[in-house]
Order: sequence, then C-alpha cells, then structure tokens
Amino acid sequence: MKLHIKSNVSWVGKIDWELRKFHGDEYSTHRGSTYNSYLIEEGKVALIDTVWAPFAKEYVKNLGNIIDIKKIDYIIANHAEIDHSGALPELMRHIPDTPIYCTANGIKSLTGHYHQNWNFHPVKTGDRLSLGKKELIFIEAPMLHWPDTMFCYLTSDNILFSNDAFGQHYATEFMFNDLVDQAELMAECIKYYANILTPFSPLVDKKIKEVLSFNVPVDIICTSHGVIWRNNPVQIVDQYVKWANSYKENQITVVYDSMWNGTRVMAENIARGITQSDQKVNVKLYNIAKADKNDVITEIFKSKAILVGSPTINRGILTGVAALLEEIKGLRFQGKKAAAFGCYGWSGESVKIISQNLSSAGFQVVDEGIRALWNPDSKSIEECIEFGKKVAELFK
Ligand code: FEO
Repeated sequence: MKLHIKSNVSWVGKIDWELRKFHGDEYSTHRGSTYNSYLIEEGKVALIDTVWAPFAKEYVKNLGNIIDIKKIDYIIANHAEIDHSGALPELMRHIPDTPIYCTANGIKSLTGHYHQNWNFHPVKTGDRLSLGKKELIFIEAPMLHWPDTMFCYLTSDNILFSNDAFGQHYATEFMFNDLVDQAELMAECIKYYANILTPFSPLVDKKIKEVLSFNVPVDIICTSHGVIWRNNPVQIVDQYVKWANSYKENQITVVYDSMWNGTRVMAENIARGITQSDQKVNVKLYNIAKADKNDVITEIFKSKAILVGSPTINRGILTGVAALLEEIKGLRFQGKKAAAFGCYGWSGESVKIISQNLSSAGFQVVDEGIRALWNPDSKSIEECIEFGKKVAELFK
C-alpha cells in the first residue's frame, strides 16, 4: 500500500479496520483507526513514524515492496507511543545504523520501550534536516499527546506532519478529508479531542498560536491517525482552537446508574423539568453502565452542564459512576457546571460524594443536589421536576 500525497511524499501506513479498543481497553474505536506513516523520497529519503507493533512485519514487508529499505536515510519519530513506534524494532533489524530523529524525551521513551541503543539524534524546535532541495523543520509539541511529541514541517511542499494532533480514530480507504462522510469525520474528531486532548487544552491553544506565529503556509496536515487534511486544513485547526477554550454547546447531559430504577426515574423527571423550563437546551440521558464511556465523555465535553446520579450503596456510589468521575477528574474539563442526584434507602451519602467529586474535578457545583428516599413517589417525582426547572436556570 502506497498512497501519493504530494510531490515525493506518500502515505505508507496501515488501516486497521478491526480495532474496537485503543490504549488497552480505555478508548472505544467504533470505526477502527489508521496508523499513518509517511515516506519522503527527495535527494535524501526520510520515513516519518511507523505503525502499531502487531502490524510490524506486514508494514516492513510492504515498505520493502515500495523502496529498498536500505535507501532510507533518516527515520523521524514524531512520537514514541507504541502505535507509532511499534514497527521500529522490526525495521531497525534491517537498517540498524540509520539515524532516528526525535526529541530528547523521545529518546527516553523509545529506549524505555525497546531497550536498544539506536543511532538517536535529538532535535529541538527550529532544528532543520536537509533532504536535498527541501528541509524538514522540527517543532516540539509536548503533551500533544505525550511529553516526547513533536511535529515536523516539510518546506516547499508546505506539509505539517502533526502526529496525534488533528487526528481521529477512523478507518477509511479514502484517506483524505474531502472524500469521507463529513459527519462521521467530525464525530470522530471531537471524540478524539474530548477523550485524549482535553487535559492539555491550554497547551493545545498555546502550540497552535506558536505554529501560526511562524507564518508559514500549511497546504496539507498529515496526522498519524485517520484522514489527511488536504482540503481547507485550517478548518481542523480552527476547531481545535474552539475546543481548547472551554468549549460548550447548549447541552445538558444527565449521566446516572441505577439499581432498581429509582435513580433512572429521577434522571428522567429532572430532564422533564429542564425541558419544561428551557425548550432550547439539548438534554441527553445516559446510563453509564450501559452506554459507551468514551461516547458519554464526548457528550460531557459538548455540554455546558452535567447532572450525575447514583443511588447509595455501602455508604458509597455505584462503580460505573465512580469510574466516570475518576476519568473526568483526569480530563480537567473547564467552565462547566454540575449537580448531583440519587435514591437511597438507608444512609444516603451518594449525592454528597458525587458533588464532592464533581467539585474536585473542576466543575462548578451549583446546588447541593437532590435525593429521593426509596422508590420515588409522586411527591418525589414532582420534586425532581422542580429540581430540573431550578437547575435549568442555574445552568444558564
Ligand atoms: Fe497515537 Fe499518543 O499515540
């Protein structure tokens, strides 16, 4: 597989149609993914990134059908995570002395993963590598996605190789942004940002401003996952700027788990109250024990406010809700409001526990929350509707 991109630049990666979980089992990939690797055949030949380890042999064999591997002069490792560096050990068996250009942190990470003393060349922002008539310029991009990440820019062809940034987990044979279903593409882009890049939003914003300040033309953005942005690549940069700055839509997401349906009844009646008070707000409900966690996180990312509910069990909360709260704490959402709810039979701590967790996760908790003793009766249901009306105003 070789896909021509521009001039002497080609995609030589792997489309993984089967992938359904990424980062172990942490991230759902309903539409698979791609591991993008790029070959630049100028006076000097450079290979940018490789593919995930399970495809190492297939990748190197494919590469050998495209070019005599010994003609590769430089390997660029924009990011050392296994999905991009996984084929390096197999590749380096063929060309053990070939120089690998990466950041100083990239050397630490690659050495930590593979325990090999390869011919590393650390680079910093502004360093250049001549390929003959064109050059690669390196730009460190720590935390987009890990501390070792860098971008590189190919002069004359005006291509930015951005690694994880601007990517999506999206398998497609089309490979270019203008050829795919736009709704699918943007759904995967926002899911990727929400679940992977949200904690680093201040750095995303800063890095984009830094790259824009270089004032160099960017005709194509070659990411490491999903499509290549060749048609109006600025659109995804603009989206990132929006997403990195306390992004919210007019949406309230209600997330809960329920043992005997009481907390579900509360969720649905709180939602009724919200819509009675505000017909324009988009209210979405998810039982976190049944919904896909990463899809729910994407909905939270899009929301101006969330309601989180759990019954009390063993003086605590249900584990599905506890896991979600742990995850959103790490994601460090900004500028969102929240409140808690839940049924109880005896001790009734759940609402307090959820509120504390939401607060420590950076949400502005606007109300002490609402509890319902036992199965909600008509009075409790009315109270939930009134609570929904109240928080609809507080969330405005
Ligand atoms: Fe696609 Fe951070 O690896």
